Amino acid sequence: MKLLNILTAAVLTVSIASAEDVMKKSMSLMEQGMTQIQQGFLNNNVELIRSGSKLVKEGNSLFSHKDVIVQYLPKDKKHMVNVAAKAAKRIDLDVTVLELNLDDKAYINAANAYSDILNACARCHSIVRSW
Ligand code: HEC
Repeated sequence: MKLLNILTAAVLTVSIASAEDVMKKSMSLMEQGMTQIQQGFLNNNVELIRSGSKLVKEGNSLFSHKDVIVQYLPKDKKHMVNVAAKAAKRIDLDVTVLELNLDDKAYINAANAYSDILNACARCHSIVRSW
């Protein structure tokens, strides 16, 4: 019985820890990606913009399903999960717009897509953090 309790506790700990990891990993990838994109625009380094946009896309894909997102919303904000998921969807679309504009050398439009990603980050954070 004792062993079973220990095992149960261990399994719970592992699953809680890995659930935490998904958010941390996702946010960390997106943070790195956004930093690279910004540096890329400031220094006129298109390759840096491209590699940053890949990181944002990858990070966002880890944190875009409603059942994942809802776990991280405060109790009194769970009903906002659709708005939060829309922010993630917006990031995904913006990354595509950014990349297509880079292909076309339409850098102003690409920079606008970057700004819109930043707005979408803030949209979800405003829910989570009650900004
Ligand atoms: C769908 C919701 C959502 C979106 C979209 C989102 N985040 Fe987050 N973010 C969270 C949650 C939840 C937390 C954890 C709670 C907190 O820090 O307030 C968080 C925390 C963070 C943190 C702190 C991480 C830590 O380890 O404490 C960073 C950095 C971050 N986000 C970056 C970003 C960036 C950059 C974007 C946009 C590219 C973004 N986030 C978009 C939900 C989101």
